[in-house]
Amino acid sequence: MATQLNIFGNDQSGLQHDKLVNIASIPLRSPFRYPGGKTWLIPTVRAWLKQQQNGKELIEPFAGGGIVSLTAAFEKLVDRITMVELDEEIAAVWEVILRGNNQWLANKIRNFDLTLENVTKELKNPSNDLHDIAFRTILKNRILHGGIIAKGSGIIKNGENGKGMASRWYPTTLMNRITAINLVKNKIDFIRGDAFEIIEKNLNVEDCFFFLDPPYTVAGKRLYTYFNVDHEKLFSLAAQIKGKFMLTYDDTSEIRSLANKYNLPYVHIPMKTTHHIEKNEIIISDNFNWLPNNN
Ligand SMILES: C[S@@+](CC[C@H](N)C(=O)[O-])C[C@H]1O[C@@H](n2cnc3c(N)ncnc32)[C@H](O)[C@@H]1O
Repeated sequence: MATQLNIFGNDQSGLQHDKLVNIASIPLRSPFRYPGGKTWLIPTVRAWLKQQQNGKELIEPFAGGGIVSLTAAFEKLVDRITMVELDEEIAAVWEVILRGNNQWLANKIRNFDLTLENVTKELKNPSNDLHDIAFRTILKNRILHGGIIAKGSGIIKNGENGKGMASRWYPTTLMNRITAINLVKNKIDFIRGDAFEIIEKNLNVEDCFFFLDPPYTVAGKRLYTYFNVDHEKLFSLAAQIKGKFMLTYDDTSEIRSLANKYNLPYVHIPMKTTHHIEKNEIIISDNFNWLPNNN
């Protein structure tokens, strides 16, 4: 039978407001604002990765905005990192930042004059050049509602202080984040591909840490182009991992049943969304000895 622990120790009283993570205290390193982004989970991820000292590899098979990989790289929490993402638009951004001409991307962002006319022209640009796709993706992520680049999303109308589509367009910050990644990119491999394949390939690698954050729930359909994931298969693979893993989900009865079925321990963890709505997420892991208050 799987155990359920409270992430904040023995107090089982549910949400603990004073312990909710202050996102403003976590360095933002990703050029994306990512729907379902895991910035709030970073303190927990740090504790998880610190359970083993040396010789670790991190694999992030559902990389999205890649905040976990970037944090692990900058904070030297692991030696090697592999990021995997199936979405070709997101992948183009990582390919350019990690392997392409990232200076071109940084300059393009700096010099772009954000008018409706220019945006419309850029979004209709049919070029399939990797660098053009990367720029278009960053642009969409910044000017479309909620950072959602999947089809059906619209341009922000009012935004912050009525600034409309410019309210999330911070060219200097974006440039700085992109160029800062130069400092760590030698540690990071990027694969445009399927999470399941990479997990299967590395099932037996003992020094491997898998951070697994698949798309989930009804919202997934609206948020991501690739939202369809075989969750049962993911649980079944996770149960076979010889290294370490952390799997994150919304806390639902479906997910708890899967954790129980595969005999995997889990904890629930309170979080605040950007709209200050508190909701419960669940993390499933091979062990929780690394949790603060759990020794
Ligand atoms: C919940 S998001 C990850 C968010 C990320 N942890 C962050 O903080 O930015 C899930 C991501 O998985 C990607 N994805 C969906 N199916 C995939 C698959 N089979 N292989 C790899 N990536 C996939 C989606 O495109 C999406 O970017």
